[in-house]
Order: sequence, then C-alpha cells, then structure tokens
Amino acid sequence: MRHGEIQRFTFLERIVHWVVGLSFLFLLLTGLAFSHPRLFWLTTLAGGGATARILHPWMGVAFTVGGVAMFFLWIRDMRIDAADREWLKAIRYYAVHDKARVPAAGKYNAGQKMFFWTMTALGAAYLVSGVPMWMPGGVLGVGPFYGGIVNAMRLVHYMATVGGGLLLIVHVYLGTVAYPGTLGAMLHGSVTRGWAKLHHPRWHGKESGR
Ligand code: HEM
Repeated sequence: MRHGEIQRFTFLERIVHWVVGLSFLFLLLTGLAFSHPRLFWLTTLAGGGATARILHPWMGVAFTVGGVAMFFLWIRDMRIDAADREWLKAIRYYAVHDKARVPAAGKYNAGQKMFFWTMTALGAAYLVSGVPMWMPGGVLGVGPFYGGIVNAMRLVHYMATVGGGLLLIVHVYLGTVAYPGTLGAMLHGSVTRGWAKLHHPRWHGKESGR
C-alpha cells in the first residue's frame, strides 16, 4: 500500500486475482491453439503441442481453485441491490464518461458485479464441460462420458471461451487504459483518494468515515 492512499485489495486478494488472471490467459491462448490448425503455433508459448495439452487441464485446476477462493473472498461485496439497478439504467452515460449522470457506485459498480457473476457462471461451465474431455473414462464415480457427450461439452467449452475471452478484453481495457490509476489497485493494493472519490464515491465516503 502506498503512503496517503486508500487500501483497496489485500495481499491475499491480489495473489488470488493474479492466479485466476494469469491461469485464464494461459488457458485462453492454449485453448485457442487447440481450436484451429492455423492457431496451433500458439502452443510454442507453452513449450510445444504435447506440453500445452498436458498443462491446459492442470492450469484449469489452478483457475478453478483460484476462482473458488475469489468467489468467497468477494461475494459479500458483489450482491446486486437497488442502487445497482439504477446504475445499470445509466450505463450508457458511464460508457461516454458522463459522470454527472451516473449514480454513485460503492466498492464495485454494477458493471463490475455483473462481470464477477458472469465469470463465475463461465467458470462453472469450463469445469463441467472440461472434465469429460480430460477424463472421458469417468471421474469420482461419474461417467464414462461417451462420444456424443464429449462433443457437446466441446461446443459448450468453446462457446464459453469466446464469451470469456471477449469479456476479458473489456475487463483489461477498463482496468488499465480507460481508467488510469486502476491497475495499481491490483499491483500494490491501494488507490489515490481522488480516484476513489471519482469512480467509487460511496465507497470513498465509507472509507473516509463519512
Ligand atoms: C489478465 C489480465 C487482467 C488484468 C490486467 C486485470 C486487472 C484488474 C484490475 C486492475 C482490477 C481492479 C478494479 C478495481 O479496483 O475497481 C480487477 C478486478 C477484478 N478482476 Fe481482473 N484483471 C485481469 C484478469 C482477470 C480475469 C481473467 C478474471 C476472471 C476470470 C478477473 C476478475 C476480476 C474481478 C471479478 C474483479 C473485481 C471486479 C472488477 O473490477 O471487475 N480478472 N482486475
């Protein structure tokens, strides 16, 4: 945490977020490599095709464990309330940076909360559709998974990947270039008072004892 700033994320929250973030990036790139021969060269980033194929499901385990930890760390602050519904109605003003017409956000705005819940649902979809492809012979008494099921799961896995990949692009854009000062929250854990007041006024008020 930097001197004079407000703490936004603890060390544990940041470690968990980066386990999820970096494992997701690895999964996205290797998953895209498996999806089309033209993209197979991406496996070189992971040490070749065979290594990428072995590492992909294990990285999925890291993503799942991190995702579950993140879920329980943040669920309390992610509940959607009446103020969030007002925020969502004004989302077009948020998109054009017309701050005066956007209702004051708490620790997270409604868009961030929606991202959290959508990634939670997609995380469950990756797991449920990934396991039958990894262990078609069955696991923990469930299975075996026959060809038709594995093929259906492959489609679910692929569609969830396209959705998660597009959301990640928006998430990284908003967390870096769109709102300067945000990335620091996930690197050193704190934000300036000005940042907090501008983007999350209700949270700023609470943190300042107002
Ligand atoms: C790999 C590149 C990533 C970068 C650069 C990044 C950056 C950030 C930053 C700067 C924040 C803090 C926002 C704030 O203080 O308001 C944040 C929050 C968050 N991140 Fe990431 N992140 C990445 C990947 C991911 C992935 C892959 C997931 C989930 C699968 C994820 C889930 C979240 C969630 C749920 C939050 C809290 C709500 C929100 O700010 O949207 N992040 N991220």
